[in-house]
Order: sequence, then structure tokens, then C-alpha cells
Amino acid sequence: MAQKIKAIIFDLDGVIVDTAVFHYLAWKKLANTMGFDLTEAQNEQLKGISRMESLDILLKIGNKGSLSTAEKQQLATSKNKWYRENILKMTPKDILPGVMEFLETLKNADYKMAIGSSSKNAGTILERIGLSKNAGTILERIGLENYFDAVVDGTKISRSKPDPEVFLKGAQELNIPPEQCLVFEDAESGIEAAKNAGMKTIGVGKPENLPKADKVIPGFQNVNISIIENS
Ligand code: BG6
Ligand code: MG
Repeated sequence: MAQKIKAIIFDLDGVIVDTAVFHYLAWKKLANTMGFDLTEAQNEQLKGISRMESLDILLKIGNKGSLSTAEKQQLATSKNKWYRENILKMTPKDILPGVMEFLETLKNADYKMAIGSSSKNAGTILERIGLSKNAGTILERIGLENYFDAVVDGTKISRSKPDPEVFLKGAQELNIPPEQCLVFEDAESGIEAAKNAGMKTIGVGKPENLPKADKVIPGFQNVNISIIENS
């Protein structure tokens, strides 16, 4: 019999906030400085993957042969600088439509909740949008309680999605077995990571980009809790 879902793990970029587009714009700018372009379709390969691994994929797309570690580090630093210029402007208004209502519904239904992100900038984003455990002053100012019982991000993992590490750590911190966890993800690498962890998956985005997800929703507007109860 299927296990009852007790915990929900959310990816951050592209699920809670639309930072996926900021990542895309920064990678595209980097590609352009090197004389090639990055299309939205090619960008799908970069979603959910760590910064340095994304850079390797980008360099392959642009046929940029072997660069030294120092050169690669410099390129990744430029990309992150452009990306951070955008995330530092974020406010709670940047939380995607329907997300807060859905978190509130899940909290009232006693689900445990965690963030599972590959990003090393996750802490900054969560602070900017008022959802960080450590952002006491922001939380007080905007009157939001803390929804997440655990935050596992790129600073806590050594293997990037599709490796299941980020989600397994999330489940461990929540003290819930993986088979009772459900993951919301916008990246195919993230869906694979959740599946590799033995978890149920709901893709957020276009079905054609997320063929391995158990279900796909376009976003959280008008999403009913029954989507979880029926998983
Ligand atoms: C993931 C994004 O959440 O984080 C990826 O989907 C990104 O696109 C990865 O490359 C690493 O992010 P950061 O912020 O550490 O460069
Ligand atoms: Mg994502």
C-alpha cells in the first residue's frame, strides 16, 4: 500500500521564487561575453545543477575547450555577481503566486516542510523574501511565521541533483522516512534526484520539460491540498 505523505520538500529556484529566470539571464550574459548564445531550451539542462557543473555544461554548449580551474572560477564568479544583483532586489512580493496560501494550508494540515536546493545563494533569497529561519527581523516586520522545519542548500551538500543527497538530508532533518516525503521541483534533474531518494514528485512547469514527474502543475495558484492526499 502507498505510504501516507507526511512531509513536503520544496525546491527553491523556480518553485518558491522565479529566480530560475535570473539564473538563465546571467548564464546567457556569460555565454554572450564568450561569443555564443544560450537558448531557453538549452538552459533546461542547467536547471537544478550546481554552479560549477552548470558552467561545464555551458562551456560544452559553446564548444569552449579546456579552460583552467582559475579561468572557470573567474567565469562562475562573474555569473554569480550578475545573478546576485537581481536576487538582492527581491522582496516578499517576489514569492510566486499561490505559494504562501499553499504553505499556509500545508502548515494547518500539519505537514512537515523543508527546502531542498542546490543553491549556495538560498540563504540570501530566503532572507530577502522573509522565509528564512535566521531572518528574525524581516519575519517580524512582515508578520510571517516560519514555515520550514529544515533548509538544506548548496552549502550543506557535496553532490548535486540528480544525486538524492539534498532530499535525503531534508528527510533526515525532518525525521520522516523518504517514502513519506513528496517533492515539488521545476527541474528534471531535481525530479530525478527525488525519485532516486525514493520520494513522490510533483513537477512545477511544463509537462514536456518534466516527463519523469509523477504529476505536473503549472504553478501553485488554485492548487488544492488533495493533490498531496491523492499522491
Ligand atoms: C539551483 C538552480 O537551485 O541552484 C541552478 O536551479 C543553479 O540553476 C544552482 O545553478 C546553484 O545555484 P547557485 O546560487 O549556488 O549558483
Ligand atoms: Mg529549481
